[in-house]
Amino acid sequence: MAEEYKRAYAFGMDYGTSDFKFGPISCGEVPQIIENRGYFPDSGSIMYRAFDRAREVVVGEEVPLYLQSSEDLALRLIYPMKNGVIAKDDEKAWAVVREISRYGLSSFKPPEPEFRGFYVVASLSSIAPKYMYERLFKIYGELGQEGLVAASTVIAQPFAVAIAHKITTCVVIESGHGNTQICPISRYPIRNAVVTINRGGGDANALTAEIMKDAGYGDLAREESLVRRVKEGIGLVPADLDKAIEEGKRNPRKLRTKFKVPGTRITVELEEEPWRRFLIGEFVFDPNHEIFQSYFRRGMPRPRDVKIGDTTFLGMLDFGEGIARSVERCPVELQPHLYRQILLSGGNFSWQAPKELEGLAIDSKAKIKALLKRRGITNVKVTVADSPQYSVWRGCIIYGYVVPEDYEWDWDRMEGWMKP
Ligand SMILES: Nc1ncnc2c1ncn2[C@@H]1O[C@H](COP(=O)(O)OP(=O)(O)OP(=O)(O)O)[C@@H](O)[C@H]1O
Ligand SMILES: [Mg+2]
Repeated sequence: MAEEYKRAYAFGMDYGTSDFKFGPISCGEVPQIIENRGYFPDSGSIMYRAFDRAREVVVGEEVPLYLQSSEDLALRLIYPMKNGVIAKDDEKAWAVVREISRYGLSSFKPPEPEFRGFYVVASLSSIAPKYMYERLFKIYGELGQEGLVAASTVIAQPFAVAIAHKITTCVVIESGHGNTQICPISRYPIRNAVVTINRGGGDANALTAEIMKDAGYGDLAREESLVRRVKEGIGLVPADLDKAIEEGKRNPRKLRTKFKVPGTRITVELEEEPWRRFLIGEFVFDPNHEIFQSYFRRGMPRPRDVKIGDTTFLGMLDFGEGIARSVERCPVELQPHLYRQILLSGGNFSWQAPKELEGLAIDSKAKIKALLKRRGITNVKVTVADSPQYSVWRGCIIYGYVVPEDYEWDWDRMEGWMKP
């Protein structure tokens, strides 16, 4: 009975640095998505006192309604998971996490009278420290009081990806908006071998914004969400950057493209130097080419090394080198098996490779192979997760489905169900 209930009400939550993906098992393949952020309205303003009184944090679809022209946006709009880690005492960030969790769960709360809360499987970065687990459990405890959570558990994002693909020995590369985690898995994540890179889709956005400025779209380049769409629309991953640039200069027409923003009259196109499209994709996988220096000199932030807790996120490490380093921290006998099962997941691997640009622009899978080949690693198999942006969420659902209902949370093993 309890087992059946758990299966019916398994609920996945993937806390990404830019997006929060959530939903119960009944969503099927695709979860719901909102941005992982919260807005703290100015509680002193008259409008707030008249209409918003009850709410300390606004999350979800209503956030854009608050974003007009406010100069203190940076203080009021909080993205709690920057880098995947929240400081212990960052109360604002935790308030956002509580609110988006509540928002996610209550938007799916079923009317059935027998409903007494979801079986929540949450997923955090592979480097999330233990106190983050504790804090999340505390939040779920509170939401349990509101009838939203019956039990909860927390797993690492790369582990969720491996589960979604039912693969027990592999290297998962999870590359989202903020950063990239490379995590070998042999039944469980091999924590000592995790390599973290402080580079994700957001850095490609920064470069896209520079390219847009140079092409005369300075105003538009200030709008992050528009820049992101332009990036996804025009960015390309080159098989070989030098060759791609050369070919692009010789034959610019081949690369010209227009990006029209849906629902507006705005069009973005790179008339003069369409070959710059290749820089966007290259930068994600390997930012070390000469040509990027000129952008850094002009003020584009260089992906920095940052230390968060005991983990260092390297800014400029290319993905091929990252994989090699991570695998080489594992037992020698295991290494070939890991190379033979490389799983790419996260939205930052969703690059398109248009047919008409065959040979010049390639997909993420081919790019990773090329980077590894450069290091003499050839016996590899690379797979892109079925729907890279949702694979963590899907892994959460499957995990919730299979972990027995009566298996209680164990702090040593870091698995099982936490119940009130
Ligand atoms: N078709 C696409 N081409 C290029 N990039 C894409 C595409 N689709 C999504 N992305 C990028 O993927 C990123 C979002 O990926 P994802 O949803 O996995 O991140 P996240 O989970 O929010 O962040 P993180 O995993 O770092 O915590 C964004 O930078 C987005 O622009
Ligand atoms: Mg993610």
